[in-house]
Amino acid sequence: MMLVVYVSVLLVLFASIVSTQSGQGPYEMEVWNKDDQPLWEQLSTLQEEMESLRREQAILKHKQKALDQMLIIDENVTSLKQSGRPQLFSPPHLWLNEGDEDDEGDGIPNYDPCFRYSILDQAWRATNYTTKSVKCDRQVRWQGWYRLYYRGKSIQMPEKCIPENHCGTHSPLWLTQPHPNIRDGVVTRKMCGNWKKKCCAFQSNPIQVKACRGNYYVYRLVRPTACHLAYCADVNTLVCGRCSSNQYCTSRDRITYRCAARKKKIKKQVIHFFASYPGSLKGKVNRIRFSKVLVNVGAGFNKQTGVFRAPVSGVYQFYFSSQSGGSGGNATNLWLVINGYWVSVSRSDVKTSASIGSLSTYMTTLRKGAQVYVTHVTGQSWADSASNTITFGGSLLMQRRLK
Ligand SMILES: *[C@@H]1O[C@H](CO)[C@@H](O)[C@H](O)[C@H]1NC(C)=O
Ligand SMILES: *[C@@H]1O[C@H](CO)[C@@H](O)[C@H](O)[C@H]1NC(C)=O
Ligand SMILES: *[C@@H]1O[C@H](CO)[C@@H](O)[C@H](O)[C@H]1NC(C)=O
Repeated sequence: MMLVVYVSVLLVLFASIVSTQSGQGPYEMEVWNKDDQPLWEQLSTLQEEMESLRREQAILKHKQKALDQMLIIDENVTSLKQSGRPQLFSPPHLWLNEGDEDDEGDGIPNYDPCFRYSILDQAWRATNYTTKSVKCDRQVRWQGWYRLYYRGKSIQMPEKCIPENHCGTHSPLWLTQPHPNIRDGVVTRKMCGNWKKKCCAFQSNPIQVKACRGNYYVYRLVRPTACHLAYCADVNTLVCGRCSSNQYCTSRDRITYRCAARKKKIKKQVIHFFASYPGSLKGKVNRIRFSKVLVNVGAGFNKQTGVFRAPVSGVYQFYFSSQSGGSGGNATNLWLVINGYWVSVSRSDVKTSASIGSLSTYMTTLRKGAQVYVTHVTGQSWADSASNTITFGGSLLMQRRLK
């Protein structure tokens, strides 16, 4: 209905543009409010709109098809309608995702089944449901992806053999392999039906399964090989629907399930710094204040104090340089100091008045908060504001969790 209205509005607008161009008053142009654009541009905008409408229409048709399918699944149409729950979950903002342009030829893009599935909420599918009236999923026209519910709560298929005459059928179907992880994408899983104490008396047709963010799964169901086979909803997995987003659902025996905290991912840090001292140094300088900062990615270096403080734990590489000379026979010693320990020296000992450059490097594993600086112990180092001869730099090579 909305679609029809929208199309007619567009057509009226289109007509107004055309009539304005053929010498009518400016009133209609103000309605369109794009009067400083040339006609061809307005037309192409219109064309785009029409294209997106056509697309939307195709999606609606698709959706209607899925809805019709839902009604076929449950013969009790009235009770389905009365349930008041949506039968197809597909939030509009997820309809046109990036990378969804992969058309199948019918104008319907391939959507992520995590956001495009039919809800299958039939209490008789529960693993604890026993009944004399038996259902057969071979009589259902399965189409596309389904998410299992039990009385409005998200639920999963069993991964363990279910006793016969459960799940509202003779031979309950169960997954012989575990559910996938999110990174696995769409996987194929074998289905078995238990009958006469044989857990795989029926090897039914395999189905596709996908894990979704939010602790649920979607299943691409197909007609089973025989009657009476039916897909099951494992009531033990109801707890999984209550796991929060930073939890996952786990089970050792595939009977009892529980929510467990997800391991925190290390946030990837990038840390690099490089600074120089813009003047000359003589004799003892406890901590060189490298005031000219060229790079300080990750803000680990403080130019007021000359101290680098490790923002995260990991493997770091440092380097420091000097240019010494004219110290009248005295050696020039610079030390790299980590947490108060002198760990690496840059030493030059030239007897003549010549000058010499020196570069030292050091690599080590540091804890978060470790403090690193350079001390000038003896001698004389030369630099000016442009020479960058007395320098101190470092990089985080690899982040590492330390106990
Ligand atoms: C259909 O649903 C209604 C309302 O819940 C119920 O009274 C009726 O018995 C159901 N019919 C069948 C065939 O299950
Ligand atoms: C099956 O399990 C559900 C969830 O635990 C429970 O609400 C329901 O009463 C059970 N049904 C039977 C027949 O035991
Ligand atoms: C060399 O070192 C000695 C002792 O530390 C000091 O007295 C002297 O002034 C230094 N010479 C120069 C040229 O810096």
